[in-house]
Amino acid sequence: MLIEQGASYAGILGIGAYRPARVVPNSEIVDAIDSSDEWIQQRSGIKTRHIADDSETVVSMSVAAARDALAAARVDARQVDCVVVATVSHLLQTPSAATAIAHELGTDQAAAFDISAACAGFCHGIALASDLVRGGSARHVVVIGVERLSDITSPTDRGTAFIFADGAGAAVVGPSDTPAIGPVVWGSDGEQYDLIRQREDWRDAIAAEAPEIPHLVMRGNEVFRWAAFSMAKVAQQALDRAGLTVDDLDCFVPHQANNRITDAMARAMKLPSTVRIARDIIDAGNTSAASVPLALERMIRDGDAKSGDVALLIAFGAGLAYAAQVVTIP
Ligand SMILES: CC(C)(COP(=O)(O)OP(=O)(O)OC[C@H]1O[C@@H](n2cnc3c(N)ncnc32)[C@H](O)[C@@H]1OP(=O)(O)O)[C@@H](O)C(=O)NCCC(=O)NCCS
Repeated sequence: MLIEQGASYAGILGIGAYRPARVVPNSEIVDAIDSSDEWIQQRSGIKTRHIADDSETVVSMSVAAARDALAAARVDARQVDCVVVATVSHLLQTPSAATAIAHELGTDQAAAFDISAACAGFCHGIALASDLVRGGSARHVVVIGVERLSDITSPTDRGTAFIFADGAGAAVVGPSDTPAIGPVVWGSDGEQYDLIRQREDWRDAIAAEAPEIPHLVMRGNEVFRWAAFSMAKVAQQALDRAGLTVDDLDCFVPHQANNRITDAMARAMKLPSTVRIARDIIDAGNTSAASVPLALERMIRDGDAKSGDVALLIAFGAGLAYAAQVVTIP
């Protein structure tokens, strides 16, 4: 039997993003949840978020973000062998969003599938893509994190309505001359799998007296404590596995869950003040699987992350699933 020879190293070759046009400030949502702009900003950091309209679907936002990433990477869609889409808000159970996206992008029948790892999905996708490229199963992989959380968030749920939002981010992963995606540190704490979840499954939702799309529910305080205490350790392990220390870092790009979680992680890791920290949550909210690539794209666009910089990515959420790795900025 012959075996595939992959690339020696894999790296992110380009990053892209799509942010829905409509910007919703806190003032538009506070009445329905008896809250205030001040409370939301102080507790989460969020000032505004982007909310998709009917034309901004999981597929259309993904295609826009992926085209952006392919252009940045200077890779033609026909060179893409695999499309991996991380999402929990593609409401058509089958076929996958990835197959439609691969077709619309103009790939030559690329392998395409969705993964469900909630907010940690994009970092799971980067780990998979890196191994596909190094294992020889694909030469170029498009990894997309995309959500339309507004479809599955109740506007009257005090614990989630101000947090969740919409958008898409994408990365092209391909061969690299140098190691540019470090070893992944990932896992799941299934004992706490109920902390963030779809309220009920589809059969129960449809059987209800007043059927509606089941929305997300979250035990925010417990999620907060888990993330703030456990995720800094995972981030540190990702650095250790890459053979680096905090002094080697240029950028820290954590899942944009809550600015206070980000602060707690930065403190616990003793990040030097020179490390630039992603704060996209302020005007993007928490976009689950899209949050890390959106934050990364923002840092590159704003000049906070330059080509060759070393960035630590970490994402975590429902499951409780998590994944972290060090990457080199393309
Ligand atoms: C959601 C979150 C901001 C709430 O903050 P918190 O400090 O945990 O808030 P609590 O639920 O303990 O409530 C504290 C107080 O605020 C009030 N409160 C809760 N939600 C509120 C809201 N939307 N507006 C105003 N007040 C609110 C509560 O009633 C409570 O009041 P009390 O002290 O008088 O009883 C926070 O738990 C969080 O960010 N959790 C993690 C969320 C997250 O990252 N999720 C995604 C992971 S992928």
